[in-house]
Amino acid sequence: MELYLDTAQLDEVRAAHRWGVLRGVTTNPSHMAKAGVRDMRAHIQEICWIADVPTSTEVVTTDADEMVHQGREFATWSPNVVVKIPTIPAGLEAIAQITREPVTATCSGCAHFTDCPIRARHIAQGTMTRRPEVNATLIFATNQAILALAAGATYVSPFVGRLDAIGEDGVQLVADIAEVLQVQAEEGRIIAAALRHPMHVTQVAKAGAHIATMAYPLLLQMVEHPLTEKGLADFMADYERSKQA
Ligand code: E4P
Repeated sequence: MELYLDTAQLDEVRAAHRWGVLRGVTTNPSHMAKAGVRDMRAHIQEICWIADVPTSTEVVTTDADEMVHQGREFATWSPNVVVKIPTIPAGLEAIAQITREPVTATCSGCAHFTDCPIRARHIAQGTMTRRPEVNATLIFATNQAILALAAGATYVSPFVGRLDAIGEDGVQLVADIAEVLQVQAEEGRIIAAALRHPMHVTQVAKAGAHIATMAYPLLLQMVEHPLTEKGLADFMADYERSKQA
């Protein structure tokens, strides 16, 4: 299972990237607001520069035509942009339209445009012009995932923790979507989102999620274990003692 960071904080993207585990970033309007982002394009391009991974960029409208307009614009910012669209009727309409026609990533306005190795790689691979990929977000039911994939989404994002919070079973939703994909031999990638604790990560991996997106503190929690801390402290103490012997 791939690990994504659910954030718009650049220092968190940098830190996770340094670990060598970061395979994508998901942003949303709340993350952008929290990070104090004023220039969305520059910010997304900076994430692309830091981590060079698929970066979900969410439309901020409920109107289908405007979603298409924004989504196709986002796709020009970087070849790494994945357009994030809410799973509502207007969203389905927008997914169908956005994924129909290719868009060229011009990377215009990017502070790292000159001699950018990421752009050079995509030019060499012929992937600067592509049909934009869509991450269908705010999924709380299997049928929403079925619809989003039918409309043309590449990714579907069930919000696990938010379902748990209303007394439903978020991990079971991931398992149900994974089962549908398997039984139908369908393409589509499940991004398990709104994860709240380390057990969620293990649970969605076992349930068939292709990707888990999480807040940076949860990524830190994944590596922490009191016995690791204690074992390391003991090893270091023994090492120091052996030097004095
Ligand atoms: C996923 O892509 C969303 O950005 C995210 O997981 C939102 O969930 P939360 O705000 O409930 O954590």
